[in-house]
Amino acid sequence: MSTDKSSLSLRYHGRILDHLGIQMYQSPIAALAELVSNAWDADAENVNISLPDQINTNATIIVTDDGIGMTFDECQERYLNVGYARRGDNLDEKSLGKSRPILGRKGIGKFAGFGIACVVNLKTTSKSTGEATEFEMNLDELRTQEYVEKDSGNVSVISHTPPDESKKHYHGTIITLKNLTLSRKLNAEQFSKSMSRRFLLHTRSMDFKVTVDAKPIPDDDDLANIQYDFPNDYLGDERPDELIIQDGWGIEKLPDNQQIKWRIRFNEDPITSDELRGISIFARGKLAQVPFFFQLSGGLSGQHAQQYLCGQIEADFIDLFDHDLISPERQRINWERIECKDLLTWGQNRTKNLLSLWKSRRSSEKQKLLTEKVDGFSDRLEKLSNHEQKTVRQALSKIASISTLKNEQFVELGKAVLTAWEAGRLRDLIDDIANSGDMSELDLLDILIEMNVVTALHTAEAVRAKLDIIVGLHERIKTRALENPIRDYIADNPWLIDPEWETFTKEMRVNKIIQKAAKEAKLDEYEDWKKRVDLVLSSGNTLLVVEFIRPDIPIDHDHLSRFSFYMNAIQSQLSASTVHKFTNYIGYLISDKLDRSPAFVQSLQEHKQHQRYALDWNGLLTRATVKWKEFLKVLVERAPNDARLRSLLEEIELK
Ligand SMILES: Nc1ncnc2c1ncn2[C@@H]1O[C@H](COP(=O)(O)OP(=O)(O)O)[C@@H](O)[C@H]1O
Ligand SMILES: [Mg+2]
Repeated sequence: MSTDKSSLSLRYHGRILDHLGIQMYQSPIAALAELVSNAWDADAENVNISLPDQINTNATIIVTDDGIGMTFDECQERYLNVGYARRGDNLDEKSLGKSRPILGRKGIGKFAGFGIACVVNLKTTSKSTGEATEFEMNLDELRTQEYVEKDSGNVSVISHTPPDESKKHYHGTIITLKNLTLSRKLNAEQFSKSMSRRFLLHTRSMDFKVTVDAKPIPDDDDLANIQYDFPNDYLGDERPDELIIQDGWGIEKLPDNQQIKWRIRFNEDPITSDELRGISIFARGKLAQVPFFFQLSGGLSGQHAQQYLCGQIEADFIDLFDHDLISPERQRINWERIECKDLLTWGQNRTKNLLSLWKSRRSSEKQKLLTEKVDGFSDRLEKLSNHEQKTVRQALSKIASISTLKNEQFVELGKAVLTAWEAGRLRDLIDDIANSGDMSELDLLDILIEMNVVTALHTAEAVRAKLDIIVGLHERIKTRALENPIRDYIADNPWLIDPEWETFTKEMRVNKIIQKAAKEAKLDEYEDWKKRVDLVLSSGNTLLVVEFIRPDIPIDHDHLSRFSFYMNAIQSQLSASTVHKFTNYIGYLISDKLDRSPAFVQSLQEHKQHQRYALDWNGLLTRATVKWKEFLKVLVERAPNDARLRSLLEEIELK
């Protein structure tokens, strides 16, 4: 122990490297971004990062640059000097050759390699002397030293060749990271994108190219579809005073007179990657703050828009203060500092403002879409009185302003609102929507459910009306009031017989062919067929033939086979026709009664397989009732807990 008590000394433990490298630069992107920064500072024009194909003990990552390199002495004085203050007193220092703003400042970037590797090998050729030096730093050797002495010789020089004029043009530096501590292989494409998000330099300078495995890193962020791009997309007086727009970037001065450049864009769809969503801040072209929202939280108008937002701010001044405001791994700015206050406030205000602009634009865009979609209903809307129209339109607009609603959902909802209004239902509710202030999503959900029920109810009531008609028909048939008008009624309303026939309409185009087929099947030569009524319907590719034969006589085997022959004739004539393209033929033969003999029942089954059916009126209408009731049950299942639908179903079941 020294007896001199006039001074103390600060001693550095070898473990300090753990904190400078391993702790701080754990992400390969952050670590390698430091090496890219050093290449920039060295006036390099090209930097390549070559990634390993596989992770094994021999795997290496090599960063090559064609910068000015270092002499042997510079290796010692600059590179191997922990905490070497690159910019000294001049924080705005520029590089010697290309006058680039220098990124380095703390003199610890070289340890970034230790975040992902145990050995760092450096080969460098100085541009000014042509001197070449290769040395290697091994983390394990460096950190086992207890306290590191000056001139400890703990870095082994592998080779050195003296200054040589002829070698000057080989200038540059190759850093090889060995004994990698990465647990898995890096995906080159993903890595490239992430690296590109760390810098603006390569997009701004023509003479700085960064490649990964010889492929240039991308220039711009790969947003799928940009919907709004600010400041370019400001309209009229939305644009802040004093804002200058240059190449799509806004230039503004903060109250403390510092200048910033910014660009904030909204994607059409939510941005899923955390690395992209939010606003990043760059200082001197290098990332200083990963995407964030200026510490804004909760209760913002248009908060939802955050998911769509991606922005960049260039705030070079952040890197020009005496004390560093940027965390060494360039993830965060120290927002507690007074120097950052104006930027933080500006960012919060600008973000809030753009989020609310987004909100009103998105909803007005939806409104436009609504108007277009609603035009599809204009027939229906026009039937309403002016006053009613106004209310319904207003309600639809309110619903449109809810930003989470997808367009299709919105269209469905619009239909339901109109249907409900027309049915005289939910008028109070729709009125409420029309006159409400802001509508919460929960309120909307309630309305959605209600609308769904109402649509189902509306349809269910129509079904009930149909069932009533079927029951009426049944009565009239029982009392033998079976006249042609009833058949005509069925011809006009074939859905009465089967819900599937709702889309069928009378087919007149094939009249001639039907007549010809009837002749071929000799239908008119027999008494039983003379008073028959043809009914020919079609829907798409399907042709439906319904024959009603003379009342009072039961359909027997002879009727059935003649009808079948008639169907064959229709089918063969139509399939030869080039005009009518039917692929599906269905036939119904209807009369008062059916032969009940087992042989006839057997034939019925066989004809069924060819979609040819014989039915009596009773059978036909019972079948129709069953089918419509089934349809109704499906409707009720859409809202099984709704009392109105349930009671309607019970009422019908009783019939
Ligand atoms: N690729 C390189 N080419 C030339 N010189 C370099 C290179 N990398 C580092 N250096 C030198 O080593 C010094 C220390 O680098 P670094 O530890 O990253 O700290 P800083 O960049 O903050 O100065 C740099 O200032 C520079 O002089
Ligand atoms: Mg550096």
